[in-house]
Amino acid sequence: MIIEPVVKGVVARSAHPFGCQQAIRNQINYVRTADPVTDGPKKVLVLGASSGFGLASRISLAFGGSMADTIGISFERGPSEKGVGTAGWYNNIFFREEAEKAGLIGKNFIGDAFSPQMRQQVIEYIKTEFGGQLDLVVYSLATGVRPNPETGELWRSSIKTMGEPVTGPTINIETDTMEQMTIGTATPEEVEDTEKVMGGEDWASWIDMLSEAGVLATGCKTVAYSYVGPKATYPIYHQGTLGRAKAHLHATADQLNEQMSEMGGEAYVSVCKALVTKASVFIPAFSPYILALFKVMKDKGVHEGCIEQMQRLYAQRLYGKDKIVPVDDNRLIRVDDWELEDDIQQQVSELMVKITPENFTTMGDYQGYKTDFMQLNGFDLEGVDYQADISFETLTQLVA
Ligand code: NAD
Ligand code: NA
Repeated sequence: MIIEPVVKGVVARSAHPFGCQQAIRNQINYVRTADPVTDGPKKVLVLGASSGFGLASRISLAFGGSMADTIGISFERGPSEKGVGTAGWYNNIFFREEAEKAGLIGKNFIGDAFSPQMRQQVIEYIKTEFGGQLDLVVYSLATGVRPNPETGELWRSSIKTMGEPVTGPTINIETDTMEQMTIGTATPEEVEDTEKVMGGEDWASWIDMLSEAGVLATGCKTVAYSYVGPKATYPIYHQGTLGRAKAHLHATADQLNEQMSEMGGEAYVSVCKALVTKASVFIPAFSPYILALFKVMKDKGVHEGCIEQMQRLYAQRLYGKDKIVPVDDNRLIRVDDWELEDDIQQQVSELMVKITPENFTTMGDYQGYKTDFMQLNGFDLEGVDYQADISFETLTQLVA
């Protein structure tokens, strides 16, 4: 079969396995020549390792100087009657292959990170096959649902405001159109549920469990990712349900930092740049901001993708030269510093007001936005034979 891109709205319904392989290789090549992570961690667990920031973290820590063995947990689907499977499924496979070629462990666990069974399996593996202890735990899950560990009932996150409803443009990648969309006001229950899904509770429970199992090494660090953004997007993000959940995540970092300090450990949240990922394309009214931001940052030569962000985080912040992790007044690591520079934001706001449904494909960086989206799914990458006839058997023989 010839594997073609299929996009529904902002969701990819197909993925190109060998395009995913190429994307992994491109990221590896980038970190191999970038400012290296020195004195970095050697044994790393990444929750949400198959795409976006989690995958970039894993690549940075394995190939960007630290030579870390990694365990990656993710929720992905392999080939079946339903299709070729998800991009993350292939990212896991090809990451592991590259890691093994470099003499590193790249163990994949595919399944629900919230389930007790997954936790037990991972602990068992750490104890029996991974050397017994972790130096770093990266928490990069992004999801819309989380089961209540007590009852199994599902909490669902919603992307809503906490004040007035906001109407703003959103992009449909399938039809290349910009449409108006209104984000309603969250009910108190929706606010709470979003915090349950995207706040810090599950992160803390993982760290507690790993700590009780005795698999956190002395000096172990943990990091989770957040977004803040400029004032213009506060009503939809920072002061909305997602921002509220992130505030909980930030508070969790402080709590974990105190807990882990007993064994010389540290916990942080790193605030990252707005980027195109499987998760972020869902945030309404966010895409015009990204279109303007990419355009301005590329013009200025300071644009970064997930991999550049993560390499900078690990090489210069979490394992930086002066051993003290630089943080802001709220104890947050800021790798969104370039995004938020005054002159960048000035130009972004000037450009954003000019972007309309008629001109967005040329006025902002829609080309870059769409290419990033396609590449997340293994399409539009140079050096990949997209006409190749790929058999289903070839795909089912690839193992996670
Ligand atoms: P992503 O969708 O690319 O990755 C999410 C990962 O979580 C995937 O590996 C997925 O398989 C995994 N996952 C989801 N549910 C799971 C489950 N139940 N069990 C196991 N694995 C599961 O998302 P991303 O954009 O890289 O987001 C990662 C973090 O970075 C989030 O906290 C997000 O808020 C944050 N962040 C994103 C942006 C952005 O612009 N994309 C900016 C700043 C911070
Ligand atoms: Na270092």
